[in-house]
Amino acid sequence: MRTVKAGLIGLGTIGTGVARLLLEEGDSLARKVGVRIELKRIADVNPARRRALPMPAGVFTTSADRVITDPEIEIAIELIGGLHPAKEIVLTALRNGKHVVTANKALLATYGSELFETALKHQRCISFEASVGGGIPIISAIRDGFVANKIESVFGIVNGTTNYILTQMTLANKPYEQALAEAQRNGYAERDPHADVSGLDSTHKLAILARLCFDVDVDYTKIYREGIDHVFLEDIQDAKSLGYTLKLLAIGKKRGGAVELRVHPTLLPDTHPLSAVSGVFNAICVNGNWVGETMLYGRGAGQQPTTSAVVADIVDVALGRAQATFLNARCFRRKARPAKVVDMEDVTCRYFLRFTVVDKPGVLAQISGVLGKEMISIAAVVQPERFEGNLAPLVLMTHPAPERSVRRALRKIDKLKVVRAKSRLLRVEG
Ligand code: HSE
Repeated sequence: MRTVKAGLIGLGTIGTGVARLLLEEGDSLARKVGVRIELKRIADVNPARRRALPMPAGVFTTSADRVITDPEIEIAIELIGGLHPAKEIVLTALRNGKHVVTANKALLATYGSELFETALKHQRCISFEASVGGGIPIISAIRDGFVANKIESVFGIVNGTTNYILTQMTLANKPYEQALAEAQRNGYAERDPHADVSGLDSTHKLAILARLCFDVDVDYTKIYREGIDHVFLEDIQDAKSLGYTLKLLAIGKKRGGAVELRVHPTLLPDTHPLSAVSGVFNAICVNGNWVGETMLYGRGAGQQPTTSAVVADIVDVALGRAQATFLNARCFRRKARPAKVVDMEDVTCRYFLRFTVVDKPGVLAQISGVLGKEMISIAAVVQPERFEGNLAPLVLMTHPAPERSVRRALRKIDKLKVVRAKSRLLRVEG
């Protein structure tokens, strides 16, 4: 049986999972796929990490160079995360003729074009199944399974930490701070949770998905982003009373020659399949012109699911499949078309609006008057019984309206004397 030698860089949580799988289950994997993957070297700057699992003598090294300069190693597995030195390691590995497998979504979202261009120049591939959706084979589904389709939209829950927090808020009525603290205690949220709760991690993943789905090069900083760090329990409770569930969605939609790309808390009807995706799970919906609506669901993070995805990539490269798709796909080619991202103000959707108003006759008429002038049509009105002194919340659901009109209306409404706090806006999909 043919043997392909691989080298792993970064023996953290995912690296340890990958090393364990290849060392402990390498024989059965080889029998299954018809090629043996030999983990020739494992590198980590921290020598103590060597103790993470038993490995043959001479395999462990503290120097990534011993992986990326070894002429016998065909596949470099980058699992250190972060931008630097991950970028330099990947570039050197490619220049030295190695294929690269990585789970590093921040790296691909930031330097994707440069890395892909270098890979193509050296006729090597970069595989990154684990960068989005953990163990969910979303990259191969889009790249291979849905290849016959023009993808019209891709959207879903791509961050497990924020989904866990929102689920706690929704099902256990916990305020944001308490749900976040619990996520941290359970090891789901980092001590510095910024990348997850601000939606940044989701924009990285959406940039990767958009490249594959829409054949464009996306600057992730151009993606409209709102995190969950300003979500109130009242948002969730009021939405619930109207039959909606709040989720942090990453949304990509084709709009003629442009694309809508946005990450924000989103209300979905309770009947939408994404509303049932709870806890740390991820789910991604892909709509293609032939396949129609699809949804892929599974664990979006964690050692075992992510290991599953990384090893799938390693096998794909070892079999030569990854090279064929990577070297031919237009979305990785030099100077992929830069995405024309639709301005958020030009997005049209339905809105949930909450106003804090003086509870007296004529208030609703003043607010609906402003909305009417902006041609925003109201679909439902509720006044939850939650008074604070003589102030009361007023919740409106609109029919589809352009964001520009809604923002303009809210600016006017916030100036009304009967409105006593900044109005709340949440977008509705599905
Ligand atoms: N922080 C990410 C999440 C990990 O919570 O989904 C996987 O990218």
